[in-house]
Formats: sequence, structure tokens, C-alpha cells
Amino acid sequence: MLDNVRPADMQRIETPVQAKEFIDQQVALIREQVGDGRVLLALSGGVDSSVVAALLIKAIGQQLTCVHVNHGLLRKGEPEQVIRVFRDQMNANLIYVDATDRFLDKLANVSDPEQKRKIIGKEFIDVFAEEAAKLNGIRFLAQGTIYPDILESGPVKSHHNVGGLPPELNFELVEPIRLLFKDEVRVVGKALGLPEGMVERQPFPGPGLGVRCVGAITRDRLNAVRESDAILREEFANAGLQGKVWQYFTIVPDFKSTGVRDGQRSYEWPCVLRAVNTRDAMTATIEPIPYDLLARITDRITHEVPGVNRVLYDITPKPVGTIEWE
Ligand code: XMP
Repeated sequence: MLDNVRPADMQRIETPVQAKEFIDQQVALIREQVGDGRVLLALSGGVDSSVVAALLIKAIGQQLTCVHVNHGLLRKGEPEQVIRVFRDQMNANLIYVDATDRFLDKLANVSDPEQKRKIIGKEFIDVFAEEAAKLNGIRFLAQGTIYPDILESGPVKSHHNVGGLPPELNFELVEPIRLLFKDEVRVVGKALGLPEGMVERQPFPGPGLGVRCVGAITRDRLNAVRESDAILREEFANAGLQGKVWQYFTIVPDFKSTGVRDGQRSYEWPCVLRAVNTRDAMTATIEPIPYDLLARITDRITHEVPGVNRVLYDITPKPVGTIEWE
């Protein structure tokens, strides 16, 4: 049984030296727990699962199998980055499953946000369990649980954490970062040599772009969310805002308005920009984006993203609005 209480005298991990100490300690503990057993990890490419993957690769190398499920709702370039970093650079045992069609087929015509979340959560577990069933001799399941996950077990979390582990995934857990806070996980990630873009990633919801493609998801509108999000991230990075704004993304709602393109009347979607700051995601304030940056983003999105003819900037704090639109 793993200890789930952070000792009062546990030192905070703030420096590379402290991170290295933590890594050495965890590598020894993982080896002790796992022995010559095999470990499975669902690797989303988010900060927590990436740090756990890097720690386990250091501790047990090829005894770890990572499964990266692409549900078709990831941001532009994410699956490619996971493959590049873990398979190509860290030589991890990585199974990549492109389940895009399967997810999008199940989500077709489903517009209720909670229903969408349930489908995505269930399908994710199913795909992962199917991959696990193909492997022999797995005894352990590694997870990127962090300390706030243990502390927060209120209604918000249960709403966000879609589904628990089904019986076929009832392995012994390996949770090396369960006593760490997010900022400490990032320090450890850097010390493990993970790229800056991965370690400093903004929070990304489990259902991914699916809750930003408001209403029933279609491939063309999902593409508009993905492409506009990539432009927003690129422009924020160029403006030095990456890592300074807590969360920023685009939303493409399921309605159209008129416009003019190449002298012709157009009838296309709007794209909403959202950029918020928060400590705990329970309340949030709005990042005042400089006007020239807003203008540049608007110009790029309306010219580069097929199907979008307007850009709107959402200045609603939480409360009253939530951070996501669904
Ligand atoms: P809201 O929209 O409730 O979001 O203000 C608060 C934070 O939670 C994230 N979020 C989710 N994360 N699964 C997740 O893992 C979800 O279903 C989900 N819904 C919202 C959101 O991105 C924000 O950071």
C-alpha cells in the first residue's frame, strides 16, 4: 500500500539539485517495488504522465510499456511530439494507437456535454484495456496521480475524472509523483530532460478539443478548433506569453454568421478566444491581451482557418462563466 500523506517535513522541490535527489530516491523505490515485473502506463503527453514515463524509463527501461491513445481530440502536433520524445529520443517501449475514427464515430450527433465526456472517458478506458489485454505478464499500472488529485476529491473532481479503473485493469499501482505539487512535477520534469514545451504545458482537459468544439462534433469544425488553437498558441509564444498565462485556447461554437470573402457572401463559424488566469481553476480572471496581438490573431485565424469568418474575445471571468464552454 502506497503512503498517500505528504509528511509535514517533506522538503519542497524547487531546484535542480532537489529534483535530482527526488529522482534518485524514486528510481530506487520503483526498482524495489517492481523488481523484474512489467509496468503499463497510459501516456497522454501531459506533464504528469510524461514525468512518470521519464522516471520509469530511467528506473526500469524496457520493463515499461507506454500506451499513447490518440482520441482525435488532441492539439495539433501532440501525438507527433509524444512519439518523437519518448520513442525516438528516450527509446521507450511505446504503443501508439490512432483511435480517431472510433471516437468520432461514437461522438457523431451527440451534443450534450456530459454525454460527450462520458463517451470519451469510456471509450478511452476501452481502448486502453484492449491494448493491455494484448500484452502478457503486466503486473503494475503506473499513474501520474499528483498530490492535489489526492487532496481534492469533491464534486468538481468527480465530474472531471471520467470513469475509474475497470476490473481488467486492476493492477498494482505505481505512483511515483503522488506526493508532489504541480510546480514540483515541472521541476522534476526539467531535471529528467523533458522538453520545455512539454513540462510547461498549460492544463488540457481529458476530453481535449472535444469540449471546445461546442455541441455535436464534426470533423470540419474540430479541424477549425485545432488549427485556430495552434495559431493562438504560436502567437502567444511569439509575444512571450507562454507560461505566463494559465490557460488559453479557442472555441468554435455550432452556429454560423454572414461575412464577405473574396467579394462573395460567406456563411461561416465564429472562433472564440479565451485566456484566463487562476490559482486553482475554481475562479478565474481574464488576461488582458494587447490589442495588436488580438488583431494579428484575428487576421491569421480568419485567413488561415477554413470555415471561420469572425473572431470573438471572451472577457467573462469565472464565475459567472466556466473556463471551458462545455
Ligand atoms: P471549468 O470549465 O469547469 O474548468 O471552469 C476548470 C478546469 O478544469 C478543466 N476541465 C477538465 N479537465 N476533464 C479534465 O481533465 C474535464 O472533463 C474537464 N473539464 C474542464 C478546464 O480545462 C479548466 O482547466
